[in-house]
Order: sequence, then C-alpha cells, then structure tokens
Amino acid sequence: MEKKVVFSGVQPSGALTLGNYIGALRNFVELQDEYDCNYCIVDLHAITIPQVPKDLRSHTLDVLAMYLACGIDPEKSTIFIQSHVPAHTELAWVLNTITYMGQLNRMTQYKEKSKKSEENLNAGLFSYPVLMAADILLYQADYVPVGDDQKQHLELARDVAIRFNNKYSDTFVVPEPLIKEFGARIMSLQEPTSKMSKSDQDKNSFILLMDDEETIRRKIKRAVTDSVGKVNYTDEQPGLKNLINIYSVLSGKSVEDIVNMYKELSYGEFKDDLGEVVINALKPIQDRYKEIRNNKEYLEAIYAEGASKAEKKAIKTLRKVYKKVGFIPRG
Ligand code: AMP
Ligand code: TRP
Repeated sequence: MEKKVVFSGVQPSGALTLGNYIGALRNFVELQDEYDCNYCIVDLHAITIPQVPKDLRSHTLDVLAMYLACGIDPEKSTIFIQSHVPAHTELAWVLNTITYMGQLNRMTQYKEKSKKSEENLNAGLFSYPVLMAADILLYQADYVPVGDDQKQHLELARDVAIRFNNKYSDTFVVPEPLIKEFGARIMSLQEPTSKMSKSDQDKNSFILLMDDEETIRRKIKRAVTDSVGKVNYTDEQPGLKNLINIYSVLSGKSVEDIVNMYKELSYGEFKDDLGEVVINALKPIQDRYKEIRNNKEYLEAIYAEGASKAEKKAIKTLRKVYKKVGFIPRG
C-alpha cells in the first residue's frame, strides 16, 4: 500500500523558537516513518515581510540545519527550499484565479500583518495563503502538521482544492490539518494571552532553540505568572498553564502529575525545574546543530537532492492542472 503524504513548511524569517519546535518540528520528526513526508523551507513566503537578502540566505540554511538537528532524516523525508521548485509559484498563479478576494480578506494573519505594514502593504502578503495552498496541493498531501495559527490557512487550502476539483474534475487530494491537542499554541512568556512569536519585539517573550543555558533560565524566571501563588492548571492562570504545557510536552509527564509534584512548592521552584527540562530537551538539538550548520557542502548536498526529489513529484501535479485549465502542452 502506498504511504499517505505529509507536507509542511517553516519560514526562514528569523531564529526558530520553542513554539516552532513544539507546534511543528517535533511533530515532523514523529511522522517520518509512517508517511511520505515533504518538509519545505518557505523562502517565497518569507519575502512577504521585508527581509535583508544576506540574512534571508543565512536563515534559510539555519532552518535547514535545524530540521536536520531535530531529527528530520533526508533518507526518509524530502527536505527542500521552496524557491528551488518553480512549480510552487506556477500553481499559485492558477489557484489565484479561483480564490475569492473576500475569503483572503478574512484571514486573521493577513489582518494582523497588514496592520503592522500599513505603509507598504504588498499584494504578496494578501495572496500568501494561495501560495501555501499551492505548496500543499502540489504534493497531493493528505496531512499537514502545523501549529494552531495555521488552521484558517488550511481551511482555505481545502476550499480551493474542492473548488478546483468541482470546476475541472477531480485533481487534488483535499488535505487535513494535523494539529496536536497539546502544544499547538505555545504562548508568549511575557504576555501569555498571545502566541510566542519570533518577531516579537520583547526578547524575553520567547525562547529560541539556540538560546544558551543562562538565557533559558533567565527567560523562564522572568516569565509572567500571577498572584495566586499556587501551581494550578486553569485558564485563570494562563502564564502558568503555558509553562505547564511546555513542561509536559518536553518531559513526557502528564499535566496532572506535574500539578501534583508542584502543588506544595513555590513558582520559583517550579520554574527552576522547568528551566532544566527545557535545557535538557534542547541540548542534543543544539549540539547537533552546531556540528552541521557550518558544513556548507553537506547542507548543499541535502537541499540539491531534496529539490530534485520534490520537483519530480510537483511537476506531475502541475502538468495535470495546466492540461485541465486548457493550456497547450509545449510538446
Ligand atoms: P512560522 O515560523 O510562522 O513559519 O511557523 C512554522 C510552524 O511553527 C507553523 O506550523 C506554526 O503553526 C508553528 N508555530 C509557530 N509559532 C508557534 C507557537 N507559538 N506555538 C505552536 N506552534 C507554533
Ligand atoms: N504559513 C506557514 C507558517 O507561517 C508556513 C507554510 C508555508 C506552510 N507553506 C506551508 C505550512 C504549507 C504548512 C504547509 O507557519
């Protein structure tokens, strides 16, 4: 039986956070044995927000090295850079013509990002979800592992797939999101009602996967909690709830066990232990990242091979699509 297909991507728009790891990368690794996995570094998406070219180049390799350091195995999964496979932009163009402006206008991420870049609002930011739909549909993906913030984009990808299938006959698999119940939304350490994000101005609000031990301890110590003074897992204590989630996912202990362990102890003691849990979880990843990040030849071999593998799959779908919409084959 053929394996089901998985597709996901991460933007090379800055150093990755613990939120990226828990919401996405960790799950990418888990899926490799059972599925035919495709993991992309979405540089075309990243330029919808202004990027410094030199930094974009190094962030792209950073994400690639981080994929590998987290345990994505190029022997099992296809790992590639989005701009290396032109079929992504080609399909995006076709899908643009069947996507409604109204639906794009309702995207939360667009609304938020456009508020931040009012002066220089670009069309790429608006059609960002169409390119994302193209990424997924090109590979006929059954499942898309993402964090909670991508749910709406996934819904749009499904709508576009269904609309195309209805208009031109069955062409695309309609993808399903894989969003974990736990850890799909890691919150800011400073403002536990908003998402932990690498673009946050406040550096204390996120933990980077490459933060050193001292920094991790300090950021967790400074994490906002509450004045209740008792370790509980409730919506009334959102800061603590977020920290318990992180503790649980990284240690494998249940929320219940954690609450029991710390119910008689202070927040300080809980935070000290959480610091160690995070440090221990990240240590092997950081060691491996340091080993491979500067090995340019190795990274180049991986992305070159990945692009060839990805292109073969993508072109099949693109050819079908071009034929269905009425384009004449070049011969
Ligand atoms: P991005 O960095 O926006 O390209 O996101 C890459 C992946 O990480 C996506 O699947 C996001 O949903 C996921 N992600 C980003 N931030 C968080 C967070 N705070 N909690 C959980 N998942 C996240
Ligand atoms: N929009 C996603 C994010 O910001 C990144 C992304 C681009 C993606 N294409 C994708 C995720 C396809 C899953 C599948 O996190």
